[in-house]
Amino acid sequence: MQQYLKELRILGKTTGFVPTMGALHPGHLSLIKQAREGNDVAICSIFVNPTQFTDAADLEKYPRPIADDIQKLEGAGCDILFNPPVNQMYADNEQWHLNIGELEYLLEGKFRPGHYQGVTQVVYKMFNIIMPDRAYFGQKDYQQVLVVRKMVELLNMPVTLVMCPIEREPDGLAMSSRNIHLSADDRKHALVLSKALNITKENFDSNYIEKIQEYAIQMITHEPGVQLEYFEIVDGNTLHEADKDTQNIVALVAARVGNTRLIDNVIIR
Ligand code: PAJ
Repeated sequence: MQQYLKELRILGKTTGFVPTMGALHPGHLSLIKQAREGNDVAICSIFVNPTQFTDAADLEKYPRPIADDIQKLEGAGCDILFNPPVNQMYADNEQWHLNIGELEYLLEGKFRPGHYQGVTQVVYKMFNIIMPDRAYFGQKDYQQVLVVRKMVELLNMPVTLVMCPIEREPDGLAMSSRNIHLSADDRKHALVLSKALNITKENFDSNYIEKIQEYAIQMITHEPGVQLEYFEIVDGNTLHEADKDTQNIVALVAARVGNTRLIDNVIIR
């Protein structure tokens, strides 16, 4: 991979990189499209990264439809797929930790301890191997974008990050590789998440942030089959509670629907 990309760089080609864990859906493919449009060469990785899973059963059942994925990537005009085996990405018992500060422990970090260490490990390794000019991440995993941005800043990594909008099903459900685990009933109940986010955005008033947040929380906790983990309206840079002077505001939600954990968010301003 490194040799191949080195040759492309010598020819002056720019590279756009989209890291994924596969089970590709139109959300992933929208990132590939942006990578193609913004660069000479679009590269996608598919690697189900064991170090970012906090639950062994979740890692086990993570979908891995590689033949379908390859077909989708060909259809989307992706130039290169990087699909390494686990033992080429990690040595046995590899232990190292990058201090990215409190971003690791807020929101998702609270519910998935160690998750962002796994993400920074694998994205660091991927960036070292691929050395892309630009890397594309979905707003769907908003906190992940902040975490990767922090790592890039701390280590002065020569890559430009691009955040791409959330692709949704026609009824509003954010696309996710995990949606295939939703039963028909779960699928209906899951809609409460995007609905609560929309209502929050539409009715947003910076003088009543707590009230609006409380309303969304009530809405979600009253939905059968849905177990709320958090719904927070925060500063889009720090993830601290937003107040009326906050410039960038994001509402983020995580919940279990049936046995499936879902996340979603909306940028309010
Ligand atoms: P994965 O969940 O496969 O997602 C790969 C990329 O697709 C992420 O940047 C994610 O935010 C984006 N994405 C997922 N659903 C989306 C949607 N509905 N609309 C737009 N973009 C969407 O995120 C990961 O993998 C991993 O943590 C990874 C970065 C690959 C590191 O292992």
